[in-house]
Amino acid sequence: MKQLGKLFLIFTILVSAAMFYINPDANAKQEDQWDKIKERGELRVGLSADYAPYEFEHNVNGKSEYAGIDIELAKKVAKDNNLKLKIVNMQFDSLLGAIKTGKVDLIISGMTPTPERKKEVDFSNSYMTVSQKMIIKKSESDQLKHIDDFANKKIGVQKQTQQEKIAQTEINNAKIQSLTRVPEVIMSLKSGKISGMVIEGPVAEAYLKQNKDLMFADGVKFKEGEKSTAIAAPKDSPKLMGKLNNTIKDVKDKNLIKDYKESAANAMKKDDGNFFSKYGSFFIKGIQNTILISIVGVLLGTVFGAMIALLKLSKFRVLRWLASAYIEFLRGTPLLVQVFLVYFGTTAVLGLNISALICGMIALVINCSAYIAEIIRAGINAVDKGQTEAARSLGLSYGQTMKSVILPQAIKNILPALGNEFVTVIKESSIVSVIGVSEIMFNAQVVQGASFDPFTPLLVAAVLYFILTFTLSRIMYFFEGRLKVSD
Ligand code: ARG
Repeated sequence: MKQLGKLFLIFTILVSAAMFYINPDANAKQEDQWDKIKERGELRVGLSADYAPYEFEHNVNGKSEYAGIDIELAKKVAKDNNLKLKIVNMQFDSLLGAIKTGKVDLIISGMTPTPERKKEVDFSNSYMTVSQKMIIKKSESDQLKHIDDFANKKIGVQKQTQQEKIAQTEINNAKIQSLTRVPEVIMSLKSGKISGMVIEGPVAEAYLKQNKDLMFADGVKFKEGEKSTAIAAPKDSPKLMGKLNNTIKDVKDKNLIKDYKESAANAMKKDDGNFFSKYGSFFIKGIQNTILISIVGVLLGTVFGAMIALLKLSKFRVLRWLASAYIEFLRGTPLLVQVFLVYFGTTAVLGLNISALICGMIALVINCSAYIAEIIRAGINAVDKGQTEAARSLGLSYGQTMKSVILPQAIKNILPALGNEFVTVIKESSIVSVIGVSEIMFNAQVVQGASFDPFTPLLVAAVLYFILTFTLSRIMYFFEGRLKVSD
């Protein structure tokens, strides 16, 4: 009980220290972002590449490339200002957070300026306007003609978009289902989980072409039927905003959006061949990264886990408390939250500019180390006390006892559990897809967007994960068998 109280105290102190540190007022009055970008020589543009024809990935000679209207615009902004371009692909609802924490310099993601968003970021002049539409299943077109037909029905939208707003305000008592990515909403619609989806016209057209079971509900007209699209930039950076508006003016003067639309349409068409020749490379890249981050997670996790386990078994109370606090905190919070904390925390709190891949690995290593620490501690504790007593009474020191008597026996308890942890990590590593690490799950989502087929890529991902984990557990059985024999 007393221990619990102290643990709680440590937490409160840690959490309030962190809050204090993150307090944005502390580093207010920053310079114009333009200077930072210029100094870096690289422009980092955040977007959510689930949004053909604005931004999507497609396959060029077995390699994935970004294409779309927004990508062309991003290229032009970079070129006009002699900057290298880096595209940072993430979920639409993470973009505002990314720009506020300095993960990206701009958002060019078909984003509509709204009063709420204007509190967080500044918007350039608009470069396009788009229509707002409702799509439905063809089989339901008789019942769903007018906007009133959607009253009390389930309506799907992409999370934190204007379409969510429209569904809320214009459809009577709609039951809104917000999902993170457009393909997920399309899939809900196809499988009949929702009756309609509010979506922007051009995006809908791209999906309707590949999904013959869907159609526009032509009778549905929204009051907010047209929306404009602009580039979002960090607040109070007039120089940067000036540069953006220069480029947009040029785009308008030369009527470039028309060209951009054309090249986007071409990129959407170009993909021919079967599913695997087109998208196989995405999955191979995904497998490589999944294996890489899982191995790093387990190996480094074991190194740190062993240290934490030793702390937890230490003679000193303080060390034991610290180790417990660490373990309890990491086991008591979702990996998803930890991944976001590392991803945004490294920039917002520590001011570091670390890639998503590294952030994902750090999060996994930290998370694994807590679980592995417990595995190791339990493995050591499971060795009969008598062994220590016997070794010590034979005159061995504590260190010698550990090294030559306890650990060799403990390893037999630890290894199988470590193997299980490895299997778990392979599956759990899919969570780092949320910050844009291109492992299996993330690439499956990319393929969903590129192929306009929401289901097959998920199936392939499931099979791939299964092959990885199944092979691994077979290998483990084999070694466990060997360990038993050596008994
Ligand atoms: N225009 C809409 C909005 O700003 C949706 C944009 C979604 N963009 C995307 N890349 N998924 O709310």
